[in-house]
Amino acid sequence: MSSSAKSGARMLSLGTALPERVVSNKDLEEMVNTSHDWIVERSGIHERRVGGSTAGLAADAGKIAIERGGIDPSSIDLLILATTSPDRQVPATASTVQELLGLHCGAMDLNAACSGFVYGLIAAHGFIQMGHNRILVIGSETLSRITDWTDRSTCILFADGAGAAVVERTEGRGDLHGWHVDSNGALEEALFCDFDGKIQMNGHAIFKNAVLAMENAAQKSLSMANLTPDDIDLVVPHQANVRIVEASCKRLGIPYEKTSMVIHRTGNTSSASIPLALEDAWAEGRVSKGDNILLVGFGAGMTSAAAVITWDGV
Ligand code: ACO
Repeated sequence: MSSSAKSGARMLSLGTALPERVVSNKDLEEMVNTSHDWIVERSGIHERRVGGSTAGLAADAGKIAIERGGIDPSSIDLLILATTSPDRQVPATASTVQELLGLHCGAMDLNAACSGFVYGLIAAHGFIQMGHNRILVIGSETLSRITDWTDRSTCILFADGAGAAVVERTEGRGDLHGWHVDSNGALEEALFCDFDGKIQMNGHAIFKNAVLAMENAAQKSLSMANLTPDDIDLVVPHQANVRIVEASCKRLGIPYEKTSMVIHRTGNTSSASIPLALEDAWAEGRVSKGDNILLVGFGAGMTSAAAVITWDGV
């Protein structure tokens, strides 16, 4: 369900973290019956990063976002950690991250699979409307821990990483102009992971529904923002598969060249993928004040989320 946005909040700064260990497609050729060419052609992935803990990567990304924002960590009121691969069942990994960063604030995990960062960003704007001043939103994953490295249909896709954003109160309406969140629990069996199990996936079902869910979430948020696809300067999609992004862009009428893509070097990092791709565009100088950015993701559940923001950060 969507409603009109009156946020009064802006995304101030970004930070990311990737584990050091690179696993190339050539490395995977040694592990399962696959090839570099097949993986590139079907997914766009060349290599991915593996290692670390969800809390450790999250804290590294969060620290960079705090430093870049030039803010006092004690001014953060809430930490929202989007993750589908928490380090423990209990407590929330957000509490570990809070301790690692030395924050004194509320902390919670949010699991909306790969849509989690956008869900967290929208929730942060809502918390700020209710009185908070600064919120740290992080997407962090160690999917390698729940990946079956003998299953060629999944191990070529999933990887580890984190991305963070400081969201803060601002004068006026803020940067969020339209948003949409959704879920279709009927598709639960298309991608799931049981306790102590590994990810099970029906790639075809995910592919087909992902394209439709991305289109729907993007259109609803554009409509709320009173913008058309032509008004969008940058699209930051969930990095699951280059072909899913190409098909979604085509349906939306947005040139693929307007997307920020990091999947070739990161693989699918679930809730970390959108902040990783946003930070990459920012670092490459592709983001300027006033730019309209469409963040759009989908994931297990089958969740989807989109947000249209105008960049007003550092
Ligand atoms: N290497 C070589 N061959 C392979 C591999 C592999 N790694 N994996 C499958 N194959 C084979 C299959 O067995 C099949 O062989 P067959 O024709 O003899 O039966 C053939 O390649 C084609 O397989 P398809 O499944 O049709 O390949 P497809 O083009 O659909 O690509 C893929 C598979 C990449 C998984 C694709 O379906 C996809 O990306 N789906 C979406 C997955 C996704 O986005 N998941 C995450 C979403 S939610 C989240 O991010 C947590």
